[in-house]
Amino acid sequence: MKRIKLLFASSFEVLFVDRDLAIRRVEEWAEKSTYPVQVVFGPEGCGKTAWLRQSAVFLKELGFDVLYFNPVEKEFLFEIGFSDLRKEFLSIVEEAAKINAFAGVAWRLIDFAKKAIAHGSKKLAILVDDAFQVIGLDKAAIYVKGLLGVLEYPPKAYEKIVVVATTSEGLSRFEIGRHRWANLLPMWNLSKNGFEELYNQLPSPKPDFEEVWRATGGNPSVLENLYKNNLSIDRVVKEIVSRKRLRDFIARLGAEERKWLVEAIEDPDTLYTRSRMSLKDELVKLNLIIDDIPPREEFLWIDTPPPEKDLELGIGKYVAWQTPLHREAVKKALEIFN
Ligand SMILES: Nc1ncnc2c1ncn2[C@@H]1O[C@H](COP(=O)(O)OP(=O)(O)O)[C@@H](O)[C@H]1O
Ligand SMILES: [Mg+2]
Repeated sequence: MKRIKLLFASSFEVLFVDRDLAIRRVEEWAEKSTYPVQVVFGPEGCGKTAWLRQSAVFLKELGFDVLYFNPVEKEFLFEIGFSDLRKEFLSIVEEAAKINAFAGVAWRLIDFAKKAIAHGSKKLAILVDDAFQVIGLDKAAIYVKGLLGVLEYPPKAYEKIVVVATTSEGLSRFEIGRHRWANLLPMWNLSKNGFEELYNQLPSPKPDFEEVWRATGGNPSVLENLYKNNLSIDRVVKEIVSRKRLRDFIARLGAEERKWLVEAIEDPDTLYTRSRMSLKDELVKLNLIIDDIPPREEFLWIDTPPPEKDLELGIGKYVAWQTPLHREAVKKALEIFN
């Protein structure tokens, strides 16, 4: 498989690293087709898009027609043998771009997949990256059902179809999980080895690897943000506080809830008690934590699972901070109320 190049911190290129298990999973899907739809979720910036783009290239190498669409980053790839269809799709994307109507394109993608099969596409990959935010979280499940429809009711016989969607939205996971239209697979941040491989590609000056690992927990996007902020952890933390409006969030909490939050900073599993569930749900909604983390068995994960528990990185058995700096941001926002 040819490793793709990715833009890092808007300034230089890196080669795709690691994710061997997740790539092997794609290979299996290519052999067997996916059923039902595969939905990969995980911390923001853990590398879902990078993996899906690498998968697009890999599936093309394996002889698939590939439809890839990311409405948030306005990125798409339409690698398909039928030039009339390709032109039609491109003109729709162009029109949508003028009025910022990408949700419509995500829905049209399902029609296009069916058209491609009707045209005679035998091996087709439909990769929908981070579309639920644009489509609307309440419509995430019904969109997945639409994708499932391609597998269940194709207009013509096919050999293989691979359908994968990704999401960073903790809430969409529950919306989708209520139905049996998708198999949900979590992705965690990069493993320490994989992260080091990425770190080694970055230019100097750079902070000590162990220090970066402790700050990011292997999240490549946090590392990017460090690079964009002169390697200042403090600046990155402040950026998270303001982007997620954490002062606002904490100002709404009662004294007891703030105490629970302080305890969750020490150990996120403390959120797993009856009285604290609604606070936990709020933190999921803000994409600060991941809850209900499955057992660390490989078949339940798309790639290497996180450790069973690592409180230094903010990882509990059932609940984990998305990264150590997400936790730091909450700590910082709490300071003004003390
Ligand atoms: N496996 C990887 N190898 C190299 N760089 C990666 C890898 N995964 C992620 N990155 C880098 O980290 C950034 C954030 O990853 P991304 O895939 O956008 O995260 P997500 O889609 O989960 O929010 C990317 O822009 C890319 O530069
Ligand atoms: Mg993404």
